Amino acid sequence: MSTKPAPIYADNAATSFPKPREVIDAVSAVLGGMSLSPGRSAHRYSLECSRVIFDTREALADFFNCPDSSRIAFTCNVTEALNVGIFGLLGEKLHPGDHVITTALEHNSVMRPLRYLEKTADISISILPVSGDGEVMVSELPRLIRDNTRLIVVNHVSNVTGAVADIEAIGRAKGDAVFLVDAAQSAGVFPIDVARMNIDMLAFTGHKSLLGPTGSGGFYLRPGLGLRPLKMGGTGSNSEAEIQPDFMPDCYEAGTPNTLGIAGLGAGVGFVTRTGLAAIRAHEQRLCRLFLDGLEQMKGITVYGPAGGRERAAVISLKVKGKSESAVAQSLDRDFHIMVRAGLHCAPGAHRTMGTFAEGTVRFSFGYFNTEADVAACLTALAIISKN
Ligand code: ALA
Repeated sequence: MSTKPAPIYADNAATSFPKPREVIDAVSAVLGGMSLSPGRSAHRYSLECSRVIFDTREALADFFNCPDSSRIAFTCNVTEALNVGIFGLLGEKLHPGDHVITTALEHNSVMRPLRYLEKTADISISILPVSGDGEVMVSELPRLIRDNTRLIVVNHVSNVTGAVADIEAIGRAKGDAVFLVDAAQSAGVFPIDVARMNIDMLAFTGHKSLLGPTGSGGFYLRPGLGLRPLKMGGTGSNSEAEIQPDFMPDCYEAGTPNTLGIAGLGAGVGFVTRTGLAAIRAHEQRLCRLFLDGLEQMKGITVYGPAGGRERAAVISLKVKGKSESAVAQSLDRDFHIMVRAGLHCAPGAHRTMGTFAEGTVRFSFGYFNTEADVAACLTALAIISKN
């Protein structure tokens, strides 16, 4: 009797899987153990929920070295956090005629809001170039900064190439501009210290390497920096006033929050903290190196992104000669039970820089729960697919 091989999940850049047991338990304990309306009523369930949310806020503040946990606001994902940052600056620090710098590796959650502002609010955009290896050329930043540069938005880790931007160097060179970091792919793998890195706003998601559920995410906002909220409504505070509270985090958290997601995110951050960022990164880098070494021996495969042992995330984009990206991904899933993502990964600019626009690439992304055996199986599958 033939046994079906266990599926291999190599799509962690989209969302991490599996989640640690404590994340599942935390979500389940909240869902089964209390009503979910924090900060509204004075009964015990509401207070218990508020405690869950406070604990996650504190854990995230510690994790990113934020001066004060009230500077963390929750959103439903990193896209919402980036939209709050980009649109929320308009009329505050960003005005018609102003200038924004970003990179060629940005996700659509940055590029679409910025292009919208370019079209509708007379904002000009400069693009920080990327080297042949797909790394953001930070040395070019001083040349691009103008007197009216108000915002610099940088993707910390590319979801296409795995390249890591030197955000510490950008934080040093940013001048008076607001520095907004998209930590979608980096939070939970690479160290982020908002104080040391001079980050004004950090946007993160809960469901990738922070190992929480989808629907969770948020941002850190530097004290003194104001943003116009995208949503206004009930916050459970200042209910007598018909204007939105102007203090954090309430200002950006209108509506009943996602306590389930936030509970899971808190447990995910707890898991990452206990396991240790260095151990997580070392494991993922070992898998990445193993995969890249194996690919080097294979004919008919082109690999993109930083080469030669340079620091990178375990996100590897490749092409198989003579095969469409969707055909490779389908064969991996159907014939080898390996799950990856093919196409443009919502980051067309990154593919333009690599010359892989418009068909995209096949992307493998390994996480903490992948094993060396998973990588070996991916290599075997690719060897067979590339020969057929
Ligand atoms: N942006 C996520 C990805 O890269 C969803 O797959």
